[in-house]
Amino acid sequence: MKNDLISKTELPVEVKLGDLTIPDFIDHFKRNKEKYDQQLDHVGALKFTGVSIACQDDFQQVVNEISTKFMNYIDGNSPRTKLSGNVYTSTEYDPAQIITMHNELSYSAKWPGKLFFSCIVPAASGGETLLASSSEIYDQMNKSIVEEIEKRGITYIRNLHSGEGLGPSWQDTFESDQKSRVEEYLRSYQINYEWGHNDSLKLKQFSKGILHHEPTGKKIWFNQIDQFHPIQLGDEMYETLEILYESKENFPMYVSFADGTEIPDDLVLEVLHTIKGCTIAPPWHKNELLIVNNELVSHGRNSFTGSRKVLVAMSE
Ligand SMILES: [Fe+2]
Repeated sequence: MKNDLISKTELPVEVKLGDLTIPDFIDHFKRNKEKYDQQLDHVGALKFTGVSIACQDDFQQVVNEISTKFMNYIDGNSPRTKLSGNVYTSTEYDPAQIITMHNELSYSAKWPGKLFFSCIVPAASGGETLLASSSEIYDQMNKSIVEEIEKRGITYIRNLHSGEGLGPSWQDTFESDQKSRVEEYLRSYQINYEWGHNDSLKLKQFSKGILHHEPTGKKIWFNQIDQFHPIQLGDEMYETLEILYESKENFPMYVSFADGTEIPDDLVLEVLHTIKGCTIAPPWHKNELLIVNNELVSHGRNSFTGSRKVLVAMSE
């Protein structure tokens, strides 16, 4: 992950606009919508600089005008706050940690098509929204790993508590405390579920792990095995979980091949290494709007110091 890699890749396409007011930017975007949609469908990320987004209301106004069909962060697994309307803070996960690369909600049955980010308060250091091309990750990945995932598929497992425990609760995950509504959602997306003791909820979700991206005709890496596998937590945490839970299937998050067999630690470490090599870290400045095609480009977050406020919205 190096800033100097930016020059070696097309990501993100940077559109320098000088200094546009919100209405002028909206007008500019609408007039050039076809071109920008094309770039998002083929390159996967666009960064506009010189858009005077100074606060949450500005951001909300921009995304409302340039996109439709917004999504809630239903079925999400990262701590974040819903601010109003369609706007969330980007994850509130520990600033000292890097959030590894992922396509938003790729482990779920329904994921957003586009993500919108804007940085209201840049961090004192670090805090970049990391980006990586999903097709480049696929191309760089060890072919035997790709073949194994394509042949076998994967199953994501989540164990959600009902208020106290490790990881998120099912109420926070589904933005509801009504079991019937949660069940309705799970059934509609063919997610296997099972209620356990103390109202906990076990979810099992099949995923192909690799997709064919129609507009580009490319295959893309589209899974979060490295985030769901306990090896990424480090030895100490992995051992603690093994003491706390009687089986790995009861960990807050886990992933196996679709037939239930374990994904080897070494395979996941190699995946993490390959993805890291494809990752770029474009720095955040004020007055920027980043739009990401969630299938073509994965994102993460660099560790940071100081306060940082990045807003996010998701659309279909
Ligand atoms: Fe994310």
